[in-house]
Amino acid sequence: MRLNDSRGRPLRDLRISVTDRCNFRCTYCMPREHFGNDYQFLAKEKILTYEEITTIVSSLLPLGIEKIRLTGGEPLMRRNVIELVRQIRALDSRIDIAITTNGILLEKYALQLKEAGLSRVTVSLDALENEVFQSLSDTTNSVDEILQGIEFCRQIELPVKVNCVIQKGVNESQIIPIISYFNKISITPRFIEFMDVGTTNSWNYDSVVSGDEMRKIIELEFGQLEKVESNYPGEVANLWKMKNGSMVGFIESVTNPFCGDCSRARLSAEGSIYTCLFATEGHNIRSILRMDASQEQIGNAISEIWKGRNDNYSEQRGTVEQTEDRVEMSYIGG
Ligand code: GTP
Ligand code: 5AD
Ligand code: SF4
Ligand code: SF4
Repeated sequence: MRLNDSRGRPLRDLRISVTDRCNFRCTYCMPREHFGNDYQFLAKEKILTYEEITTIVSSLLPLGIEKIRLTGGEPLMRRNVIELVRQIRALDSRIDIAITTNGILLEKYALQLKEAGLSRVTVSLDALENEVFQSLSDTTNSVDEILQGIEFCRQIELPVKVNCVIQKGVNESQIIPIISYFNKISITPRFIEFMDVGTTNSWNYDSVVSGDEMRKIIELEFGQLEKVESNYPGEVANLWKMKNGSMVGFIESVTNPFCGDCSRARLSAEGSIYTCLFATEGHNIRSILRMDASQEQIGNAISEIWKGRNDNYSEQRGTVEQTEDRVEMSYIGG
C-alpha cells in the first residue's frame, strides 16, 4: 500500500538517528561552546533499543519504505551498531541500508558492517587539507585516517559516497582538491550548501556558497560541466558531468530546494518521528512502543502522522519566521 502525505509525497526513506553523540565537534554542527563537557546527551534509557528500532522498521515495510539510513551524531559511536544492521537486514533482503559517518571508525567496522548486510556508506568529509579539516571538525584526528577507511571500503567492495559541506570563507579552497582526489578513485563527491539547521551554528545567508558559485569554481579548473538526469525520483543531489566523464553532485537545499519530492521521515534516537529536517517538534513513538503497541498499531500511528504531513520548509526559507527551538542536526541526523 502506497502512503502519501498531504502534498502527495510517498514515504520511501527512513533516516534513523541511533545516537546524539559524536567524536567530532564540527563548528557548523556541534560547536564546542554549546556541546561541551557539561552538555546533557540523551540518557541510555531514553534511547530506543535495537529491537525497538527493528519493530518500527518492520511496521513501515508494508507502507512502501525502500531505504533506511543510519545516522547520528556519529552512528559508529553506538555500541555494536552492526547488530542493528543485521536485524534490519533479516527483515528484508533487498532494502537499501546506508550509513552516514564521519569515517573515523570506518576501517575498524566496515567489514563487519558489510557482512551484517549494509549496502553502502556515505562519508562526510569537508576538507582534504589536514589543517582545514582539523579546525573545521574541531578534532585531533587526521584526514588520512578517514581516507584509509574509504580505501578499505573500496577494497572490500562496499560502495562509498562522499558529502562535503561548503561554507564561505572556510573551505571553498577544498572543492578542487576533493574533486581531484575522489575522481581518481571513481567516487562521486557531493557538495552541500550550508543550511540553517538547528539554532547553534550561527548560520546566515552570507555564509552559504551556492551550487552555482561552486560550479563556477569547478568550471574554471576543469572546464564546462553538463547537467545529467537524476538516478531516481526524489534524489537530493543534482548531478553534473565533468569533461573527463567523472561526476560531481550538488545538494542545493538553500538555492534550489527539493521539498516537492521529499519522501524522508526521520526517527530520533529517543524514538520520535520528525517529518522535516527543520521541524520543531517530533511525534513520540517510543511511548506507544513501550506500552506494548503491536506492529500494526505502530504502522497505523506513523501512517496518520505521514498523512497529515505538510512540510516544505526549504521552499519557504526567508518567508517564514525563524523559530528558536528547531532541532539540531546532531539530534536528528543529516
Ligand atoms: P543517497 O541515497 O546516497 O543519494 O543519499 P541521500 O539522497 O539520502 O543523501 P544523504 O543522506 O547523503 O544526504 C546528504 C545531505 O543532504 C544530508 O546530510 C543533508 O545535509 C542534506 N539533506 C538530505 N535530506 C534532506 C532533506 O530532506 N532536506 C534538506 N533540506 N536537506 C537534506
Ligand atoms: N548544513 C548542511 N549540511 C550539514 N550537515 C550537518 N550540518 C549541516 C548544515 N548546517 C551535514 C554533515 C553530514 C550530514 C550528516 O549533514 O556534514 O554530511
Ligand atoms: Fe559529528 Fe557529523 Fe555533526 Fe561533524 S557533522 S559534529 S561529524 S555529526
Ligand atoms: Fe524535506 Fe523539510 Fe528538507 Fe523540504 S526542508 S526537503 S520538506 S526535510
